[in-house]
Amino acid sequence: MPQDFEALDKEYIVNVYSRLDAVIDHGKGSVLYDVNGKEYIDLSAGIAVNIFGVCDDQWKNAVIAQLNTLSHISNVFYTEPQILLAKKLCEKTGMKKVFFSNSGAETNECAIKTARKYSHDKYGDGRYTIITLKNSFHGRTLATLAACGQDELHEDFGPFPQGFVYADPDDFDSVKKLAEENNVCAIMMEMVQGEGGVHPLDKEFVSQVADYAHAHDILIIVDEVQTGNGRTGALYAYMNYGIQPDIVTTAKAIGGGLPFAATMFADSCQHTLTSHSHGSTFGGNPICAAGAISIIDRIDETLLKDVREKGAYIKQELESCKNVESVSGMGLMIGVTLKKDLATVVNGCIDAGVLVLTANGLLRLLPPLNIPWDVLKKGIAVIKDVIDA
Ligand SMILES: Cc1ncc(COP(=O)(O)O)c(C=O)c1O
Repeated sequence: MPQDFEALDKEYIVNVYSRLDAVIDHGKGSVLYDVNGKEYIDLSAGIAVNIFGVCDDQWKNAVIAQLNTLSHISNVFYTEPQILLAKKLCEKTGMKKVFFSNSGAETNECAIKTARKYSHDKYGDGRYTIITLKNSFHGRTLATLAACGQDELHEDFGPFPQGFVYADPDDFDSVKKLAEENNVCAIMMEMVQGEGGVHPLDKEFVSQVADYAHAHDILIIVDEVQTGNGRTGALYAYMNYGIQPDIVTTAKAIGGGLPFAATMFADSCQHTLTSHSHGSTFGGNPICAAGAISIIDRIDETLLKDVREKGAYIKQELESCKNVESVSGMGLMIGVTLKKDLATVVNGCIDAGVLVLTANGLLRLLPPLNIPWDVLKKGIAVIKDVIDA
C-alpha cells in the first residue's frame, strides 16, 4: 500500500481500528480493487453489511431513484418509503410495529429503552434489569456497551448505566438464577454471537429461556444486527429457533451499505413507545428506506436456500484443512478456529487477494449472500492454501 495513505490515516483519523493492509478503492458485487488495481475476493461484506456485494445494481437504482425524488425530510412528515418498508417488515415477520434508526447500537438502545418503559408502565419503579449473555456484543454507546457481556469493554468509560447482568450462554440455570435474584424486565441475546466468536446458541437453551421469559412477563430482545436479513439462512436467525421475540433489532445488511436500522415490536410492546418518548433525525430517511425495500424484497426462499448451501460448502471445505481445529456458525456466518497463528492467516489471505475478518481469536467469514459460486470456490481454495501452508 502507498505509505502516504497509512501515514495520513494514522495522523488524521482516531486510531481505533486495527486496519488491514489494503486501501480499497472500488468494486462490483463480491470483487473489490485497491488503489493499486489489485483484485480481492470479498468474504467480509463490510462486516455483514454488503448483503448483495458492493454497488449492487438493484439497490443502487432504488437509492438513486429516491435520491432524485426526495433526499431527506424530517419525521414531522409522513414519507412513503418508510411506511412501505415498515409494512413489509411486519408482514414478513409477524411483528406489529417498527421504529427506524441508523445503526446497530441505536436500534439496541431503542430496544433497551422500550423494555424498561414496558416494565415501568406495568410494574412501576425498579424492574429495569436486563440479562444479557457473556461474550455478547450489542454496540458502543454507553448503554449498549454496558449490555455487552465482555468485561474488557467495561474498563475505561464508567460510570455505565446500571441494570445489566450477564448469564452464561447455553446455561439456562445461570439465566434463571439471575432472573430470580434481580428485578428483570428483559433478556437480550444474539442467536449467533458474532463479535464474541461466531457461536450459535443452543436451541434447547433458547427455547427454555423464551418459555421462562414468557411465563414471567420478561421481554425477549433478539439482537439481529449481524445475523439478520438472511445471513444465517433464515430471514432472521430467531426463525431458526422457533421462538417469537418481543423485540427484534436489525441494522447492517438492511441498509445495503447505507446507515440504517430498525427495531421491531411484537404485540406485547407495540404500544410502549408513545408520542415523544423516542425519536431520530435521520431514522427512516427516504433514501436509506428505499434501498432497504429493495433489499428486503430480494430475501426469498431461493436466496436463503443458497445461503444454507454455501455455508455448508464452506464448512465442509475448511474442516478438511489440517490446520483447522473446528468450524462454527450458521449459514454464511462462519467462524474458524485455527491451529495456526490467526494474524499470519489473515495477512496471508489479504496478500493472496481474499478479504477475511476475525472475531475473538477466530477467523471469520461473512461473504455477500449472492456471491457467485465460482468466486466463492476460488476464495475458499485460496484460504485453504493459506491455512495449510
Ligand atoms: C450483534 C451486534 N449488535 C450491535 C452491533 C453494533 O452495531 P453498530 O456498529 O452499527 O452500532 C454490532 C456490530 O458489530 C453487532 O454485531
